[in-house]
Amino acid sequence: MNDHDRWTAVDDYLAPLFAPHDDALDRALEASAAADLPAIQVSAAQGKLLHVFARMLGAKRILEIGTLGGYSTIWMARALPASGRLVSLEVDAKHAEVARANLVRAGVGAVAEVRLGPALDSLAAMVAAGEPAFDFAFIDADKPVLADYFEFALKLVRRGGAIVADNVVRKGAVIDAASEDASVQGVRRLNALVAAEPRVSATTIQTVGAKGWDGFLLAWVR
Ligand code: SAH
Ligand code: DHB
Ligand code: MG
Repeated sequence: MNDHDRWTAVDDYLAPLFAPHDDALDRALEASAAADLPAIQVSAAQGKLLHVFARMLGAKRILEIGTLGGYSTIWMARALPASGRLVSLEVDAKHAEVARANLVRAGVGAVAEVRLGPALDSLAAMVAAGEPAFDFAFIDADKPVLADYFEFALKLVRRGGAIVADNVVRKGAVIDAASEDASVQGVRRLNALVAAEPRVSATTIQTVGAKGWDGFLLAWVR
């Protein structure tokens, strides 16, 4: 067995214990695959981690940047009270449509909303409109502009809230300062910004599992 197969086998052991799927989660992945969406959603264990973060924060309002088929959206929305709200930003109309159907099937259609359009535009509009503060933000869209997403998240998340960014280790490629990969440079710009930002206390944890070797950045807003 190679490393990736071993990491996947451990995820296959952990997920039924801690992040078991119900019909809605199964059907969300099936519908996403049927519509030819890329299978790049968080793993079940990662989805549950986002859910637990939201619970720890007592989150009533959650911001997501990058919806895909709404798999991570379902995990986080299920941490909200009935009066809660999740706003998820997605640029691809087909992804948004698949996600909306998945959210309804999962019973979170009333709390979780997908806003279609380039996330930077949606975020600027939210700031301009005085969108109420969020407790938690999950950044998981295009990586070259991660730092821009983080700066918007800082404007939109309350003190004591938290911001998580996905895919910040990239099989270790993040250590290559000379990388010509725009996603690697996007993560490095994010790291420089976060490391120098006095309003947050942050760290990155490397992860292995069904999605290979990657990492989550977690920032607590002071
Ligand atoms: N959070 C999802 C996975 C998101 S994949 C999950 O774990 O289930 C990344 C998503 O970001 C894709 O659906 C892609 O279309 C979207 N995306 C890429 N660029 C974007 C942009 N500029 N604005 C909004 N969404 C974007
Ligand atoms: C990709 C994007 C993601 O958010 C992820 O978790 C894995 C892969 C991608 O664009 O390939
Ligand atoms: Mg991701």
